[in-house]
Amino acid sequence: MQPQALPGFRDFYPEEFALRDHIMEVWRRVATRYGFVEFDGPPLESLDLYTAKSGEEIVDQLYAFQDKGGREVALRPEMTPTVARMVAARAGGLKKPIRWFSVPQLFRYERQQRGRLREHFQLNCDLIGEPGPMADAELIGLALDVMREFGLGPDDVRVRLSDRRLLAALLGAAGVEEAQLPAAYQAVDKIDRVPQDKLAGRLAEAGLSASVIEGVFDVAQIRGLQAVDQALADGALDPAVADDLRQAVEILQAMGLGPFLDVDLSIVRGLAYYTGIVFEVFDAAGAMRAICGGGRYDGLLATLGGVDLPALGFGMGDVVLADLLRERGLAPAPPAAIDAFIVTVTAEEVSMAIGLAHSLRDRGVRLEYALGAMTMGKQLKLAHARGARFALVIGPDERQADRVVIRDLATGVQQTVSRSGVGAALDAARAGQGST
Ligand code: HAM
Repeated sequence: MQPQALPGFRDFYPEEFALRDHIMEVWRRVATRYGFVEFDGPPLESLDLYTAKSGEEIVDQLYAFQDKGGREVALRPEMTPTVARMVAARAGGLKKPIRWFSVPQLFRYERQQRGRLREHFQLNCDLIGEPGPMADAELIGLALDVMREFGLGPDDVRVRLSDRRLLAALLGAAGVEEAQLPAAYQAVDKIDRVPQDKLAGRLAEAGLSASVIEGVFDVAQIRGLQAVDQALADGALDPAVADDLRQAVEILQAMGLGPFLDVDLSIVRGLAYYTGIVFEVFDAAGAMRAICGGGRYDGLLATLGGVDLPALGFGMGDVVLADLLRERGLAPAPPAAIDAFIVTVTAEEVSMAIGLAHSLRDRGVRLEYALGAMTMGKQLKLAHARGARFALVIGPDERQADRVVIRDLATGVQQTVSRSGVGAALDAARAGQGST
């Protein structure tokens, strides 16, 4: 039996690695544009960091075990508790608002399916120390600008947003009691994925009457700010409860991101710590799982570190995103491995080739040559396979004259230059004909 990677864990062969690298490069580029700075934490944390506040679903999926020192530990399933822990430990010394991002690999023992694996990478962005909706809009704007940077527009992806404070008020008006809110949240969260009669059964078990259950389903159907206003008026509720959501939408519209937005009260988020605006980014067809999810979690720093700071953030996974980019033809071709390949005609030229290769590599040229006897034809084939733009050909005449033929493999144009002038000639050829 040939050994294989564990279920839900990926091998990144160079082609897949190139896409992963592209995704992470775009993540970092856009996050830094918004003034976010990168950090990291440990991949293994104390188990109680997650049992304290992440919520049942994630706790069920933990890779948890006892280490040799008898500590209960877990591989990180998400980054938010680590962010909260690290910020709380140094809160006094950090300039607010804190804008931090990280690109952790995370581990969840999930049932493997399309878009869900047992490890994934996440762009995790958190903004800490700002209570107002400008911060929520800033963070949603960042997530959408990442989508735009990949070449995805409002016909490709949508952000669905809601506010837990608004949802709680509407559910309250529908007759849901405070203690029943978690069960109602769960039902609303699963409204698109679980049959309604099953959800109704669970709500009945939590003590909700048939008419209240009907009201919960009605609230979950609310779409758009107008419908929100109407529902608030119908429930004789204070319209101010939707102010933050209205303002966040207005700010995102001012950023030009309005076409991406869908106010959608079925968005709750599975994690237990959210307290305000929550959002998820999906493919527009709704065929895939969420690409990104996040929201405001104002109480978490106080729970984990005793520091009462407002906070919000999102996590964007690489798995669904990579599927979507491939499907839309937006996954770039893997970059060429090298700039130039040195081709030797006889064995006599090999030592000159080695010296030239070394001096060019010192200059930053990515370069390869045959590591054993190989015909010229095979050397050129290998140069093409590696994506080299230039062949640097050395034959007996060139060796004697201390010169090199530079052949542009894209155009076929050749020039002969002195050995010491090859680096400068490559720079000039690349600058003159666009990057390789
Ligand atoms: P989450 O919704 O659990 O949120 O994950 C965010 C994103 O990570 C998902 O939308 C999905 O793209 C990806 N993801 C999650 N689990 C998996 C999996 N098993 N396989 C592949 N991709 C997955 C959080 O993790 C929050 N901590 C986000 C956050 C940051 N909230 C505030 N700050």
